[in-house]
Amino acid sequence: MTVVNQLDMEVGKSSITAILGANGAGKSSLIMSLAGHVDVKQGDIEYDGQNITPWSPMERVQKGIAIVPEGRRLFKSLSVHENLIIGGYTRSKKASQNNIEKVLSIFPRLGERRKQMAGSLSGGEQQMLAIGRALMAEPKFLMIDELSLGLMPKAVDTCYEAIKDLNAVGLTILLVEQSTQRALQVADHAIVLESGNTVWKGSSKEARDSSDIIDSILGLHKTQ
Ligand SMILES: Nc1ncnc2c1ncn2[C@@H]1O[C@H](COP(=O)(O)OP(=O)(O)OP(=O)(O)O)[C@@H](O)[C@H]1O
Ligand SMILES: [Mg+2]
Repeated sequence: MTVVNQLDMEVGKSSITAILGANGAGKSSLIMSLAGHVDVKQGDIEYDGQNITPWSPMERVQKGIAIVPEGRRLFKSLSVHENLIIGGYTRSKKASQNNIEKVLSIFPRLGERRKQMAGSLSGGEQQMLAIGRALMAEPKFLMIDELSLGLMPKAVDTCYEAIKDLNAVGLTILLVEQSTQRALQVADHAIVLESGNTVWKGSSKEARDSSDIIDSILGLHKTQ
C-alpha cells in the first residue's frame, strides 16, 4: 500500500521545517521513510549531496540523521542513563560520555532522574529523554514526530526552547506537529500533507497568512 505519494520536498541546512497534516495524512510514514525504516518504492532521498535511498537506518544514523519517533519508543524498563547510552551506539564510548553531559546540560531534569526507569518518568521527561537519546547520535538532521502531543504546557515550552537552541547552533530540524500554531512559531517552512500528498507548502509566514486555508485542510478530517 502506498501511503505517501508524489512528495517533492527540500529541507535547507540549519532550517526548521514543519510537517502538518490531519491524522493518517502520512506524516509518520514520511519521516520513517527518511530514517530508512519504511521502503521507498519510487523516487530518491538525497542527503548532503548523496543519494541515500538504499542506505540502512544505521548508515543514516552514522551520517547524522536521527529520529524521535511518534510515541517516543523508549526502553521503559531501562534507566535514563541506559537509554542515552543506547542512543549513542554508533559513537565511541568517550564521545558518548561527552554527549551525555551535553544532553544533561540541555535537559538538567534528566540529570536528576539519571538512574530512574524511563517508564516512571512524566510524559514531558520522557519526551526530553527521547530527544536526548536522538542527540546522543550527534545528528546534523533531527526529525521529531509529534513533539508536543499529550504534554503539559511547561514541558512543551522546555522542548521547544531546546529545539530553538539546537537549531541556533546549526541543527536542521523536521518537525511533525499536531499543534500547527506552535510549530509555525519556530519553523522557517511548512508542508501540509493530506492523504499522502503535498497540498500546501511555503514559508511559515505564508502559512500563518494562509491559516484559513491550512485550517480548512486540517479541519476536513477533524470533523469526521
Ligand atoms: N504499518 C502499516 N500498515 C498499513 N497501513 C499503515 C501502516 N502504517 C500506517 N498506515 C496507514 O498509512 C496512512 C498514513 O499513516 P501515518 O501514520 O503515516 O499518518 P500520520 O499523518 O502520522 O497520522 P497521525 O497524525 O495519526 O500520527 C494511514 O492511512 C495509516 O492507516
Ligand atoms: Mg503519525
